[in-house]
Amino acid sequence: MKSVLILLIIAGMTFAIPNKPADKSVEIEKKVKKLLAEMTLEEKIGQMTQVTMQTISKTQGTKLQSHELDEVKLEEAILKYHVGSLLNVYDVAHTAEYWHEIITKIQDVAAKKSRLKIPVLYGIDAIHGATYTVGATLFPQAINMGASFNKELAKRSGEITSIETRASGIPWNFYPVMDLGRQPLWPRLWETFGEDVHLASMIGSEYIKGAQGDNISSDSKVLTCLKHYVGYSFPFNGKDRTPAYMSERTLREYFLPPFEAGVKAGALSVMVNSAEVDGIPTHSDYRLLTEILRGELKFKGVVVSDWEDIKRLHTRDRVADTPKEAVRMAVMAGVDMSMVPYDFSFYELLLELAKEKAVPMKRIDEAVSRILMVKFELGLFENAYPKKELLSKIATEEHTKVNLEAARETITLVKNDNNILPLSKKSKVLVTGPTANMLSVMNGGWTITWQGDEESLYPKDKKTVLKAIEEKIGKENVTYFEGTSFNADINTKDAVAAAENVDAIILCLGEKAYCETPGNINDFNLDHAQISLAAQLIKTGKPVITIMFEGRPRVINSIAEKSKAVVIAFLPGMEGGIATADILFGDANPSGKLPVTYPKAQNDIVHYDYKPLEFFDANAYAPQWSFGHGLSYTTFEYSDLKLSKNVIGKNEELTVTVKVKNTGKREGKEAVLLYLTDLYGSVSRPNKQLQGFEKINLNSGETKEVTFTLKPEQLSFIGRDNKRITEQGDFIISVENLKAEFKLK
Ligand code: BGC
Repeated sequence: MKSVLILLIIAGMTFAIPNKPADKSVEIEKKVKKLLAEMTLEEKIGQMTQVTMQTISKTQGTKLQSHELDEVKLEEAILKYHVGSLLNVYDVAHTAEYWHEIITKIQDVAAKKSRLKIPVLYGIDAIHGATYTVGATLFPQAINMGASFNKELAKRSGEITSIETRASGIPWNFYPVMDLGRQPLWPRLWETFGEDVHLASMIGSEYIKGAQGDNISSDSKVLTCLKHYVGYSFPFNGKDRTPAYMSERTLREYFLPPFEAGVKAGALSVMVNSAEVDGIPTHSDYRLLTEILRGELKFKGVVVSDWEDIKRLHTRDRVADTPKEAVRMAVMAGVDMSMVPYDFSFYELLLELAKEKAVPMKRIDEAVSRILMVKFELGLFENAYPKKELLSKIATEEHTKVNLEAARETITLVKNDNNILPLSKKSKVLVTGPTANMLSVMNGGWTITWQGDEESLYPKDKKTVLKAIEEKIGKENVTYFEGTSFNADINTKDAVAAAENVDAIILCLGEKAYCETPGNINDFNLDHAQISLAAQLIKTGKPVITIMFEGRPRVINSIAEKSKAVVIAFLPGMEGGIATADILFGDANPSGKLPVTYPKAQNDIVHYDYKPLEFFDANAYAPQWSFGHGLSYTTFEYSDLKLSKNVIGKNEELTVTVKVKNTGKREGKEAVLLYLTDLYGSVSRPNKQLQGFEKINLNSGETKEVTFTLKPEQLSFIGRDNKRITEQGDFIISVENLKAEFKLK
């Protein structure tokens, strides 16, 4: 029996944004206090109220109808209800110029007509770029950023997204998603950075550092929002907004740490889990929202509800017997701002509750202070207006270049029999399948519209896979038949017949774009029509190269076994077509690695960091492709794995070095992954856990040494009493095929 050491983790929590001078925080605190003292109860409660653009619009702005602001309703919202925040768009992206017009009108009412001239905080889901700004740079989605294993790239995508969002006049981005992608059926899996705690924590933190920098009042930065705190991503049945069942240990071991990392990285807003954990709807969970988030994680920013979720404590969850009780519960649990979002009921009910003292003034002052604090941090009191000179910063050539590089780095080659890829540019190919000639399938939800599936609204100058291949090898060398839609035959026969005259078949399969609940599925297998198209093409004997554009790893076992090559592209964004063609024909060398386990069968859901029981008797980790798997057109050899010590004390760091050589003929990038295995523990220990990763570039023949530093807390886990502990004993470090052991004293 090993002795148990309680590890005191010095969290190193910083107030507000790291590196920000302390006197600025003090100065802001003073301003907040002064302003708060001048506010009426009504003005305070208005600050806690957030409504959607629809509430202040005459027409909704759909693809057939242009949007029109309702200035009477706008004045009512700001002057009568004192609303502090607005969000979104229904349901189509606007030009940046139009955003400027809208935001200017909104701030005009606040600045010129309201008593205290408190600027309005506008928020939006700029998930993979400025989603709702026409023509913005739209990056690979989060699941792809996980596949890049590239921290620099995550940071750069954060920087560019902030530049373009702020240039559109919007200072608040409801991103990043720090939910862990451990339920692959979940239709929001692609919004996560994957199944691993360390990967999600690091990629998310780097994104925040890029997006916020150390001064969010800058013209190129925005306020980020960690979502959806916490446990949202693990619905038992895989459907969106359904219950999660998790023990406190599971919550603390897997789902909480990425949020903790996000808080440490400086995020100043958090959005609440829209569903429930262990029977408690999170919007009513004082323990999660106050005791843990504030008490343990030391979060200082604003907690905003998710869409309509305070009302739903009454209408859906039935934990509150009236709408008013729902408001009381949520505010007292720790929600500072309500995304109401269609009316002013929250304002009216909270006003009643405050007058009746059912919600104490202290709690209202606390929430409003936090909201004012972020408005000061964002510099909105100095200037809340959009800046014309920033318009030229949207979709610059440089941003598009970074986006293309990102797409290339996030596409994962998982199978390449006899190095069939890259194909020669002299090949004749058949391009087929439902995702071959669409942009929406490469972008997914939160692209131009919420669902992202309005193909006709996509930019005409961006290239689908088909267009990019035609451009690369000449139209005369490409035959195209769609074959099937997502779920029905169109012209499979023609596609099969055309295979006769080509050297290779490029088969593009996958899912249509979707977001949230509309993306729920009952069957994890890819639709039958697509499987049948693949089977018929495979039968022709011509080599089939399968490319998957999808938001989650749909089961494709029969196709995977018989395709000569398989590329998991997930959702590579607006430059995904070019990037895919570059990889297929060798103009780019793939370097993505899977950020999730790719299951082989419907019920084969096991994570790479499985427990001993999951690999015992008939149980096994035998997925289609494992987490971290990804091929290159060059080869890498690992050697000289060295540890700074073989025995360490409980507060000591461990340095690990390893050499990686490019032994192939071409330049390539390699994500070097370091895993840790704790051999014995008082709670069953995972097979291995990712504890470090670095992406390096190597020329042919080049060798680099990669150094990792393991911090003491990286050896810890959640013990039987649900507290974080470290135990003495033996550990194994593994990098690729190399292993080294050490002992913790
Ligand atoms: C989603 C959030 C999003 C919010 C505002 C909700 O339905 O769950 O992720 O930020 O809408 O658009």
